[in-house]
Amino acid sequence: MIDDLGAIPSPSYVLDMEVFEGNIEKIYRFQKTADVHIIPALKGFALWKLFAKLTPYVSGAAASGLYEGRLIYEELGVYAHTYSPAFREDEFPSILDFSSHITFNSVAQCTSFIPLVKEYNAAGGRHVSWGMRVNPGYSPVKTALYNPASEESRLGVDYRDAAALDPGLLEGLHFHVLCESSAEESKTAVDVFEQRCGDLLKSGHIRWVNFGGGHLITREGYDIETLIACLSSFRKRYPGIAVYLEPSSAWAWNAGVLRSKVLDVVVSGGKRTAILDVSFTAHMPDCLEMPYQPRVKGAEIADETAGTDGLCYRLGGCSCLAGDFMGDWVFPRELKTGDDVVFLDMLHYTTVKTTMFNGVRHPSIGIVENGAFRELRRFDYHDYKQRMS
Ligand SMILES: Cc1ncc(COP(=O)(O)O)c(C=O)c1O
Repeated sequence: MIDDLGAIPSPSYVLDMEVFEGNIEKIYRFQKTADVHIIPALKGFALWKLFAKLTPYVSGAAASGLYEGRLIYEELGVYAHTYSPAFREDEFPSILDFSSHITFNSVAQCTSFIPLVKEYNAAGGRHVSWGMRVNPGYSPVKTALYNPASEESRLGVDYRDAAALDPGLLEGLHFHVLCESSAEESKTAVDVFEQRCGDLLKSGHIRWVNFGGGHLITREGYDIETLIACLSSFRKRYPGIAVYLEPSSAWAWNAGVLRSKVLDVVVSGGKRTAILDVSFTAHMPDCLEMPYQPRVKGAEIADETAGTDGLCYRLGGCSCLAGDFMGDWVFPRELKTGDDVVFLDMLHYTTVKTTMFNGVRHPSIGIVENGAFRELRRFDYHDYKQRMS
């Protein structure tokens, strides 16, 4: 546990190595038992200085395009499974160099790019496999921002159109419809996919399926046995088809915090706000996008009836965006300038989605291992300046 904040500069994202390694171990055991490949998706977790911890366990990793694919190849030492809503022609040759699997998002992209993959394979000694993302028309995700399977979704080919395709066109199929989902929801997704794309699966041409991300295997109470049973039985029905899952959040789930400090406390209209040295919009953007109120160490999330008295505080970011705040939390004591405020579970997606809006100081990135803090990266004025010209 990250208990001693004294040695940790503020602000910082801090990864707890013990929890991170525990997550990796859990995922690895799951992968072995279920006889599937679990590959980390970089979109939600890309702290590449820690990739050495993953290397012994992963056969690949999921990329959203050229830069993630290159990072996977260079720092994780494996090939990428690359899916993008649309590939660029000028980047495609490099994407092939870094990838073992490519997933297209539309029939038009398949038609344009599959000949290039075949040409690449014929020229080199390596087979890059290709497939297509399907929208199976089912998702348990209720928040529109995170539901990729709506009727009008731009992500994946509608299953009815996919079913009409020549099965000989494809080597693989991909779907992604989950987000922080349970094993039961994963099972429903697999069942629906099988019902709706069964002819393609049985065609004899498909060599792999990728069941996307959103399988939150490392969440406490996750029913691992249900997902293992679902995947093992799929493997038995289709022994010639390799199964990939590409979660992202699960690897870093609960494995780190955002450590911050109170810079000032202001009272306006009777509302008390502690202004922090971090920003929701720049450093915790998912809180505002989803929206959700994160847990804060040692404080309680106030319910709707909480008043403005007592020790109830709104927490405000240090940017000039009017909406850069969340609330309310009840603290066990009065907040003062210099006090620590620690946001829990603030690694997955948060660390990859930050901005330097307002030029606010970007949190350092560090780890706590065997009780000691080590800073991996500190940001300064030059990082801000280099993003613009
Ligand atoms: C195609 C794809 N794969 C994998 C993931 C990772 O999902 P998660 O972090 O919920 O496991 C996402 C998340 O948006 C995604 O869009």
